[in-house]
Amino acid sequence: MDPRSEVLLRQAELFAGPLLLAGLPADDLLGQLPAARGWSWQAGEHAQLAARFAERLSFGVAPDAAPFETAVLFLPKSRELTDYLLQALAARLPGKLLYLVGEKRGGIERAAKQLAAFGSPRKLDSARHCQLWQVRVEQAPAAPELPALARRYTLELADGPLEVVTLPGVFSHGRLDVGTELLLAHLDGLKSGRLLDFGCGAGVLGAVLKRRYPAAEVVMLDVDAFAVASSRLTLAANGLQAQVIAGDGIDAAPDHLDAIVSNPPFHSGVHTDYQASERLFARAASHLRPHGELRIVANSFLKYPPLIERHLGACRTLAEANGFRIYAASRA
Ligand SMILES: C[S@@+](CC[C@H](N)C(=O)[O-])C[C@H]1O[C@@H](n2cnc3c(N)ncnc32)[C@H](O)[C@@H]1O
Repeated sequence: MDPRSEVLLRQAELFAGPLLLAGLPADDLLGQLPAARGWSWQAGEHAQLAARFAERLSFGVAPDAAPFETAVLFLPKSRELTDYLLQALAARLPGKLLYLVGEKRGGIERAAKQLAAFGSPRKLDSARHCQLWQVRVEQAPAAPELPALARRYTLELADGPLEVVTLPGVFSHGRLDVGTELLLAHLDGLKSGRLLDFGCGAGVLGAVLKRRYPAAEVVMLDVDAFAVASSRLTLAANGLQAQVIAGDGIDAAPDHLDAIVSNPPFHSGVHTDYQASERLFARAASHLRPHGELRIVANSFLKYPPLIERHLGACRTLAEANGFRIYAASRA
């Protein structure tokens, strides 16, 4: 059981009625709270929960229409995303109770101050390195408009400007990542066909790929519903078309790819996590066509080449700058 769920279950009587668990972990909490529903924006956790509780779950960037009498938000990493999620929940709970639970090292103490926009927050419990906070929603906000919270920036590229639209909580919100910038400068010579942007975030790599290789079928994949929504906004802002998929890891991607392009993840929520990248290297060959290529950017200190060579073949370093490297490897 996730420690945040354990903290909730110490006061299970508060959570016995129709409750929405927003951003819940993939554990047995829904099993312990039979009147609760879950809302997830993380495709992997959603899939694990759906195996047991499909009819009590929703996935996406906003709570679905099913009614709830109270809600618990599991604190996400981003302050702006927390703001949006709290507003989305508080808008549905005028006069009712809203809870926030999170790890101390995830910044729960500071985040609890964000509850003050709706009433007077109070700390209910502190245990398992987590805290549980409560507020009665005295001032209910209007439901937030997510596209209005997007940050937009323009990249001046050789073939014209590209507008990037990032939503709260999405990687490199409002600015281009240094690693991604290096990869953008090394997208030449890919075989046009079916191209994957793995871990697409706001969709900058996928959008550039579609513009560089207009005949290609571009697929973009991310585990996070807010990244998927951002990528769709970025494509639309530039009049581009690509398939955008919410899914957990390379196994959710299609086969017969000519190239996989990625600034691969090494975080999951507040924790460092190489699992998705290691799995990408291990499974890339089975998603690539013969001679298909994996091309990634990574921090120079990450020991990715031996992993890539173990599964795919010789790993070349195409470029190095500002602490990042571009690696390329092709399957036989
Ligand atoms: C380093 S960011 C790169 C984002 C974007 N491609 C860019 O360059 O700005 C990595 C992305 O991988 C996504 N991600 C993390 N774990 C994933 C998983 N298991 N499956 C798919 N995507 C994942 C994250 O949500 C994040 O958007």
